[in-house]
Amino acid sequence: ALRQSFAQKAQKQNQNYQYQLQPQASYKVTVLGAAGGIGQPLALLIKMSPLVSALHLYDIANVKGVAADLSHCNTPSQVLDFTGASELADSLKGTNVVVIPAGVPRKPGMTRDDLFNINANIVKTLVEAVADNCPDAFIHIISNPVNSTVPIAAEVLKQKGVYDPKKLFGVTTLDVVRANTFVAQKKNLKLIDVDVPVVGGHAGITILPLLSKTKPSISFTDEEMEQLTVRIQNAGTEVVEAKAGAGSATLSMAYAAARFVESSLRALDGDGDVYECAFVQSDLADLPFFASRVKLGKKGIEALISSDLQGLTEYEQKALETLKPELKASIEKGIAFVHKQP
Ligand code: NAD
Ligand code: LMR
Repeated sequence: ALRQSFAQKAQKQNQNYQYQLQPQASYKVTVLGAAGGIGQPLALLIKMSPLVSALHLYDIANVKGVAADLSHCNTPSQVLDFTGASELADSLKGTNVVVIPAGVPRKPGMTRDDLFNINANIVKTLVEAVADNCPDAFIHIISNPVNSTVPIAAEVLKQKGVYDPKKLFGVTTLDVVRANTFVAQKKNLKLIDVDVPVVGGHAGITILPLLSKTKPSISFTDEEMEQLTVRIQNAGTEVVEAKAGAGSATLSMAYAAARFVESSLRALDGDGDVYECAFVQSDLADLPFFASRVKLGKKGIEALISSDLQGLTEYEQKALETLKPELKASIEKGIAFVHKQP
């Protein structure tokens, strides 16, 4: 009788779990670089989404095992693996959202720009395949340096004649996740309530949390403002140093990227109230690309939210002006990379 009651309980739990995870939509998501430090936990989190019916995992190596492992989770999506250049096209056909965490991570002492030489080529090659196989997909670029890899992606898509600026995103969600966490800790707030827009770019001083625009509205002393801003700007380095040569943020990044994927899918599915920060083509700051809050819809970006940039504090306004030359140079470096290719 005891065994039977355990069996019934297990069956009920399983049903409850499956009930929550009944498919609610049937989108296809492809992760390029899926066997990596970010790719694996990101794939797991996407596998949990009730909005996903197919999850395609692509990497140059080691992806078969990741896919086999994930495929045993009793959630709706079907997981398929794709290895190497010859299978790249198939991994992309019919996909709605492509997430790109392929590339090398930092080690202590490096800047994100030090990754440019390797990652620029990786992103260029992968985005060429995206252009050829799923030009309508939302493209989420995680590979660093984001400030340059997004302009690279844009130029590749332009060369292929399929650039839609409303569907190309540099993923800066981790900056928002960090800002929300650090502010809630510092101010003793419930995490769930805190939302800090982060604008600019995704490297050092180009990461600009707009603390004065935090929701709920709270005040910061000048010292708190400075401390929090610097911590958010250096949070990536904090993790790189703690990992001491074993890479950079992977778990918090996977969490953040999964949130951005879920938001994109909700927008594609017709939710009219989806807002996220992302590094996108923009006219908000006299730069070709700029991270800000954007409103997402079925066709990608529906609006850039300019109101966050109005009424900044003196500290934020100064930081905004200071970041522009560095961000501009990183953007131009990415654009030039594509144009100097033979
Ligand atoms: P990782 O080395 O653990 O994984 C990278 C994966 O990419 C590996 O599995 C590798 O085989 C794969 N890969 C390499 N070349 C490829 C190619 N041509 N096609 C497909 N896959 C390829 O690194 P990680 O920790 O997962 O980090 C990946 C990237 O994400 C780094 O560039 C890192 O700087 C960046 N990153 C960005 C953010 C952000 O906020 N945007 C946060 C963290 C890390
Ligand atoms: C991060 O912000 O954690 C990533 O951009 C990785 C890095 O190199 O810091």
